[in-house]
Amino acid sequence: MSFFEIQNPLKENHDFHGHVSWKCPSNIALIKYWGKRPIQMPANASISFTLDKAYTITSVHYQPRRTSDKWVQFSFEGKEEISFEKRIVKYLSSITDHISWIKQLSFKISSENSFPHSSGIASSASSMGALALCLCDIEEDIFKISDNSLFRKKASYLSRLGSGSACRSLYPQLAAWGTSSIIKNSSDLYAVPIEGIHEVYNNFHDDILIVSDQEKAVSSSAGHALMDTNIFAEKRYDQAEIHMKTLLNSMKNGDLHAFGKIVEDEALTLHALMMCSDPSYILMEPNTLEVIKRIRTFRKSTGLPLFFTLDAGPNIHILYPNHIVPQVTSFINKDLISLSLEGRIIRDQVGQGPTKIA
Ligand code: PMV
Repeated sequence: MSFFEIQNPLKENHDFHGHVSWKCPSNIALIKYWGKRPIQMPANASISFTLDKAYTITSVHYQPRRTSDKWVQFSFEGKEEISFEKRIVKYLSSITDHISWIKQLSFKISSENSFPHSSGIASSASSMGALALCLCDIEEDIFKISDNSLFRKKASYLSRLGSGSACRSLYPQLAAWGTSSIIKNSSDLYAVPIEGIHEVYNNFHDDILIVSDQEKAVSSSAGHALMDTNIFAEKRYDQAEIHMKTLLNSMKNGDLHAFGKIVEDEALTLHALMMCSDPSYILMEPNTLEVIKRIRTFRKSTGLPLFFTLDAGPNIHILYPNHIVPQVTSFINKDLISLSLEGRIIRDQVGQGPTKIA
């Protein structure tokens, strides 16, 4: 069952065709989603900054599906990509209960990322977000629906079914996913925008220091599954709810050091959970730890609000407010960049959410 109205199938000889295109950014979780329940429901509520410069642009051409037509043709950065195409076919097949009309169209989908494929940045959030937005846009066009708030919610719902954390990328600045007693209207089915936070977070920076671009030894889906048998799982889910409350307070009143404490705790908890999974695994690299140590030393000696977080991988997200850009830039150039892979860093910041391109 869906929370939204399911549209009727299209008429036999319909002639719906057209083209839509959306740009959707990636996001970085502050409270991490780690562990899930069927189907793609989070074990705890999570919250993330929507990014700006790390994004995917997806374009979809659609037309009536003839029996001889391939359902989906997919190209990534101008080249046919059969492995991605298979993933998209699997994803579209999995959502036909929610938008059954997609079976009656054929799609030519092309996609490109603003960040290099092997940059160690997961593209599933931005790519699933962009694809879900395109599908909702096509539905609006065909069925002449216009309800802006439902549109985002529905795109969030559909993108979640492709990649859980993607559902948070659909909103500007800050979004939360998962039922939480602290967040009004929160849901396990889709993310909601979080408003009313202190202005210092409006243009917060996230510089992503790449220490490795190797494919992860354990995928996120396998990592989530290992939480089912992790003996700390229940304690972790309780901790996430407590963290959510403290974090949101610190974001409302602009208490940067309280914010940074929770965010770093979340990153290290995520990796600790991986290390005590059965089987155990480690995604951090020696340079990940060295960067963390140097960030903490810098903070202690300068008193400046510079923090880190980690995704499910070895690269470090360096978080700081706009008013300390000069000090942080010189610190990164002097003390951190030599620990990165070939000097690679993606300088990103909090962004305004997806935009329609065509
Ligand atoms: O959405 P997934 O299945 O790729 O899981 C994402 C998990 C983390 O990035 C580690 C945390 C999060 O909330 O984004």
